[in-house]
Amino acid sequence: MRPVRLLRPLRSLRSLLPAPAALLVSCVPLFLAGAAPARAAGGDAAAGKAVFARCAACHQVGPSARGTFGPHLNALFGRRAGGTPDYAYSAAMKASNVVWTEATLRAFVKSPGDVVPGTKMRFWGLGNERQIDDLLAYLRTFQ
Ligand code: HEC
Repeated sequence: MRPVRLLRPLRSLRSLLPAPAALLVSCVPLFLAGAAPARAAGGDAAAGKAVFARCAACHQVGPSARGTFGPHLNALFGRRAGGTPDYAYSAAMKASNVVWTEATLRAFVKSPGDVVPGTKMRFWGLGNERQIDDLLAYLRTFQ
C-alpha cells in the first residue's frame, strides 16, 4: 500500500512536466534565431544547405566535388561561366562571357535562361529572396 500512495503524487507531478518543458524547447529556436548574426551581408549558410538540396541532384560541392550531371560549384564566386575543365558545357554557357558574382548568380538561380539564353540547365528557378541569400551564403563556404 505504502509505495503506491507515494507513487501517485509523483506520477501526477510528472504528467504536469511536459507542458512547460515543451514550451521551453519551442522557445530555443526562437532564441537562437534572435541571436543569429544579421543576414544583411549574406544569408544563413546552414539554411542554405537545405536550399541547395534542390541543386544537389545535378551539382556537387565540397572536397570531392566533380562535374556530374552539372558542373561542380566550388570556388564559384569570380569564376567564369563554363570554366570548369571536367564538364561538357553547352555552347551557350561557354560563349556567355558571364562571370559568377553575387548579382549574376542571384539572377541565374531566379531564371537561368534569362541570364544564359540556351543554357542546358533545366531549373524552374528560385523566387524567394531569402532562400537565395541563404543559398549564396552556403555556396560561399566552398569558396
Ligand atoms: C536538373 C539539373 C540541375 C539543377 C536542379 C540545377 N542545375 Fe545548375 N546546371 C545544370 C547544368 C546541366 C548546367 C550546365 C549548363 C550549360 O552548360 O548550359 C548547370 C550550370 C550551372 C551553373 C554554371 C556553372 C559554371 O561552371 O559556369 C551554376 C552557377 C549553376 N548551375 C547553379 C545552380 C544552382 C545554384 C542550382 C540550385 C538552385 C542549380 N544550378 C540547379 C543542371 C542543374
